[in-house]
Amino acid sequence: MSETQHRPDRADPREALPTWVSYLVAAGSSAPSADNGQPWNFSWDGTALTLALDAARAQAGLGADHPAVLLAMGACLENLVQAATRAGLPPAQMQFPGGDHDAFLRISAAGGESVPDAADTSYFTARHTSRVPFSRDPLPSTLLDELQESREGKAQVRVFSAPAQIACIAGLIEAASQARFQNAEIHRWLVASLRLSESQAAQGDGLDVATLGLPPGGRLLMRLIADWRRMSVLNKLGAYKLLAKVEALSVAHCGAVLAVMAPTWGTPDMLSAGRLLERIWLLLNHQGIAVHPYFVLSDQLYRRDTGRLPPAHVAPVNALAGSSRTVFRDGDLQPAVLLRVGRTAAQVPRSRRLPIAQVFASSVLCK
Ligand SMILES: Cc1cc2nc3c(=O)[nH]c(=O)nc-3n(C[C@H](O)[C@H](O)[C@H](O)COP(=O)(O)O)c2cc1C
Repeated sequence: MSETQHRPDRADPREALPTWVSYLVAAGSSAPSADNGQPWNFSWDGTALTLALDAARAQAGLGADHPAVLLAMGACLENLVQAATRAGLPPAQMQFPGGDHDAFLRISAAGGESVPDAADTSYFTARHTSRVPFSRDPLPSTLLDELQESREGKAQVRVFSAPAQIACIAGLIEAASQARFQNAEIHRWLVASLRLSESQAAQGDGLDVATLGLPPGGRLLMRLIADWRRMSVLNKLGAYKLLAKVEALSVAHCGAVLAVMAPTWGTPDMLSAGRLLERIWLLLNHQGIAVHPYFVLSDQLYRRDTGRLPPAHVAPVNALAGSSRTVFRDGDLQPAVLLRVGRTAAQVPRSRRLPIAQVFASSVLCK
């Protein structure tokens, strides 16, 4: 059999793969993605493992060129590169075709036989999103300095640890969230990704409400506002202001806010920003520091820059863009994603992943 095969009938198609390929697929698929959309696809042709965009999944979510999708692809790529390096694969075996949707990364098998047995994937699976309140204790200055020095391509990290800076950023997130909660398109996308019951969560993608850290009654509220017509009635009573205030309050509970900055919303820069996002996230989680990403500000800025805002939102989001420039004051760089980081003793439920057969295709016969 030579044509590409998806094997949904197999419990785990990795059983028939070389150990190092299974290891890489496990590491790659544990990457974070906006609303856990997992827009990636891995394929193995007997000589190379390829990372590509899953066009159908990306399109069903935010769209193939949306920066959040590219950030997720960058995060996945970073995991693959780090996992390949840990498995002893030399850099010469990794090719970066340049962000073509059909191939973001190819890792070839030349010499693959000598790759040591699968390393432990827990380094990658330990990384997770934490949405509970964090302590406001300051983080070690050596760590913050190291983060501030982090670079990938044109992407860089900025650290905001002074309470006044964090309060300013919380204000930006509140304004961006107000726009988001009044935007029917974003609302429908968010609602489509919500997994409100155990059987929905068991699909392995989307936002499992158990991971959202909702207060009592939170699930009920989610169900109530899921219908946009109801949400728009509630918005007339100020619901969007209340929800945005809650979002902003959660930002204030942290040790620092990190901004992954990049010059454009396009492929090379967002891939670099995604790689950097994943690198610092792994570093922080392994130092016992929790991470909660916020994409809402970047999303509004992206929609403004690409003319995708509803007419009524143009003026407030233009004002938001002005305030954002004042807070981030960073030449031609803009925030690709923000991270609230800090310490917490709380154990949080983990997001699941799609069955491997849904993100993996092999063009060689599985045993
Ligand atoms: C580009 C990007 C944007 C994200 N934006 C948000 C966000 O605005 N709010 C949030 O709570 N989580 C956000 N997340 C976290 C994802 O929801 C999370 O990574 C996903 O559900 C998988 O969970 P895990 O990180 O625990 O593996 C974002 C993740 C990525 C990669």
